[in-house]
Amino acid sequence: MTAGERTAHPTGPLLLSGGGGVTAPPPARLVVDGLTVVFGGVTALDDVSFTVEPGTVHALIGPNGAGKSTCFNALTGVYRPARGTALFGTHDLTSMPPHRIASVGVGRTFQNIALSPSETVRDNLLLGRHHLGRSGFLADALGTRRARHEERQALARIEAIAAFLGLADKLGTPLGTLAYGDQKRVEMGRALAMEPRLLLLDEPAAGMNASETESLTQSIDQIRSELGISVLLVEHDMTLVMQVSDRVTVLNFGKKIADGPPAAIQTDSTVISAYLGEPEDWTTPHPGDGPGETSSER
Ligand SMILES: Nc1ncnc2c1ncn2[C@@H]1O[C@H](COP(=O)(O)OP(=O)(O)O)[C@@H](O)[C@H]1O
Ligand SMILES: [Mg+2]
Repeated sequence: MTAGERTAHPTGPLLLSGGGGVTAPPPARLVVDGLTVVFGGVTALDDVSFTVEPGTVHALIGPNGAGKSTCFNALTGVYRPARGTALFGTHDLTSMPPHRIASVGVGRTFQNIALSPSETVRDNLLLGRHHLGRSGFLADALGTRRARHEERQALARIEAIAAFLGLADKLGTPLGTLAYGDQKRVEMGRALAMEPRLLLLDEPAAGMNASETESLTQSIDQIRSELGISVLLVEHDMTLVMQVSDRVTVLNFGKKIADGPPAAIQTDSTVISAYLGEPEDWTTPHPGDGPGETSSER
């Protein structure tokens, strides 16, 4: 990585007030091409291709076992694909370790909350900025001006992120004492603290109740519209997916079976038959249902 790439991050598009005048890096497209992941004899992901356009929410959906998590993990350096590439701008994510993927502007959350319950919200959010610091351990120890400047900048940024997510009054609260929905919000905040240009969300609505899912839907919408960050969303809650996505890619048994705008996906006969027998029959619309109706019983 060049120094120029990295200096562009700390004042990315999120800084809604008090920006330092540094231009955000140009938006990048994610082009997944022929991605194939094999476990033993099982091809969990078979020649899958799709493109996430900059500034859009792109959902990756499919019945259980379709290969969604496998795809997510191949894009975040957890699994090495047997074949295929995932170009984010000029970087092929499939050949990079997780920390490098973060440093080129791809942030992620984890399906199971991976935060420290005894630490405050502020400290949990600061963890997301770990890879951005440049002054290093020795400089920190010596309390150099650069380290102090970075720390002030990081704290200001964390406050902006917390305000954006409606967590401003909870910065000093130990994470473990927050409601589940707020903890998930902190998890998203930590991913935003990584200064991503592309945010990968793995089942963000899992375990949420209806009102938590509704505010999550709004947050994802704002991440796209106000921050200009692209989102790749792996999600089972079809109400959320259909409300917030610009485009939807559907997997079944590791293969891509459909790709298009939500309205087209909802009426696609191949997609409908793939979902038959799924516990949540999302293909039948329920007008008047609140958002998240399908999300809370898992
Ligand atoms: N680490 C693994 N080892 C072996 N098989 C796996 C592993 N992870 C996933 N699989 C298999 O790959 C397929 C896709 O799984 P997964 O990506 O978890 O599906 P989804 O997230 O869409 O429910 C399934 O058949 C699953 O059993
Ligand atoms: Mg999964």
